[in-house]
Amino acid sequence: MDFELKTLTPARICAEKCDALIVLVAGETGAGTDAVSKMVTLALKAGDFENKAGKLLSAYRPEGVAATRVLLAGAGDGSAKSIRTAVHAAMVALKNTNARRVLLSLCALPQAGQETVRAAVLACADATYLYSTTKSKPVEQKLKQVLVAVASLPGSRAGFDKGVGLAKGLALAKEWANRPANHATPTMLAQAARDLGKLPGIKVEVLGPKEVAKLGMGSFMAVAQGSEEPLRFIVLRYDGGAKAEAPVVLIGKGITFDTGGISIKPAAEMDEMKYDMGGAASVLGTFRALAELQPALNVVGLIPACENMPDGRAIKPGDVVTSMSGQTIEILNTDAEGRLVLCDALTYAERLKPRAVVDIATLTGACVIALGGVRSGMFSSDDALAQALAAAGDSSLDLCWRMPLDDEYADGLKTHFADVANVAGRAGGAITAAKFLQRFAGKFPWAHLDIAGTAWKSGAAKGATGRPVPLLVDFLLSQVQPARAPAKTRTPKAGARSRA
Ligand code: BES
Ligand code: MN
Ligand code: ZN
Repeated sequence: MDFELKTLTPARICAEKCDALIVLVAGETGAGTDAVSKMVTLALKAGDFENKAGKLLSAYRPEGVAATRVLLAGAGDGSAKSIRTAVHAAMVALKNTNARRVLLSLCALPQAGQETVRAAVLACADATYLYSTTKSKPVEQKLKQVLVAVASLPGSRAGFDKGVGLAKGLALAKEWANRPANHATPTMLAQAARDLGKLPGIKVEVLGPKEVAKLGMGSFMAVAQGSEEPLRFIVLRYDGGAKAEAPVVLIGKGITFDTGGISIKPAAEMDEMKYDMGGAASVLGTFRALAELQPALNVVGLIPACENMPDGRAIKPGDVVTSMSGQTIEILNTDAEGRLVLCDALTYAERLKPRAVVDIATLTGACVIALGGVRSGMFSSDDALAQALAAAGDSSLDLCWRMPLDDEYADGLKTHFADVANVAGRAGGAITAAKFLQRFAGKFPWAHLDIAGTAWKSGAAKGATGRPVPLLVDFLLSQVQPARAPAKTRTPKAGARSRA
């Protein structure tokens, strides 16, 4: 789908030929004399329309308007959140129409700033996303073009560009998360990463079983050993900053299918464990967005990818393995595999001398119980990092909630037979999982996002959400340091940070 941004006057909006005109209505509306403004005033006065977020009123070929359909969409207080609700409702209403070209007018909003324009673009892309990879006939996207109209460009342009870049990242994350496990094996995920390596600023390296063994990733290898699919350790680099600048590292859990292993899961809804690479998908999506947005910083993405299967060669409850850090782990439950692949990736991250490391994982059912599908669980040993992530969640409308890491929560991980066990009791399961990871993250500022509740939706609306790509992208953009005076001898490339 194509997005375009334009400044349009009320008269031009009425005269613009399109299949549907969506008019966002928020706050006080002025007494415009054009056909659309009159319609809004009349409908509000008659009580047939309310500007509450999500309320709609539609008209077909109204007088004085060139658009075939007009949808008035209440946008409440005009906040980014209300705009998201409004655009989503309007796009859903258009789903079963033949609309190919839509004009989305933000002109009547009290302020169309960065965050509101971005929210509108993202909501458009989100509401019209279609999965079609494993259908025999491609699912047709009728909507081809969205023209976003604003009253003035300054302030809107940056938000629009961010929204378009983010939409591409979000779509890629959804695509890979939605693919069934036989269409998203570790090898295929690595190929998806390699394809990203063709984009500007991105380099990709993929390690296989031999290289991973050489690194001593005994914990990651232990999870992979029950599967016929060979593991992959994917390393993505986005170099937008100065060479010497320490990178931010993102680690995505890439379990392409989680049966639970010998501690096998019940059959009901086990298909949803194809989403257990949601963390990995969010890292791929974030890199896709980085390639679009070209911020001036360095980012490394690490994806330990494998299947968790029961097999004659699979790990058994009670097995003890040696992680890359040298710490031994007693695997009391083979279904607590995410932390086993992440811990070796965390140790690998040390060699990158990172500024910060954030891991993203569909880690625990307990996090779903704690926070549901509204907020991702956020754990951090570093207050500044925690604050930056929380702020990024708020600004991108991709919320998270900080959870505790008191040392007492690690008591249940003690065992007589290794340095640490991979599970504690049922109580505080999301936190004990984070405490396990924290043992491997002592050498850098670290945060962990448990996205088990937010990465996908179940039931009738089953599908990947693409979360937390918006949070991660806003977090990374917040890590770009303000430009200093450029050095005399170097001309920085456009948008890149210059260093004296
Ligand atoms: N991938 C699951 C977590 C999960 C479960 C996410 C359900 C979303 C929905 C993870 O590997 C897992 O199985 N965790 C166990 C840990 C337990 C054995 C300590 C869990 O949450 O039950
Ligand atoms: Mn599991
Ligand atoms: Zn899992």
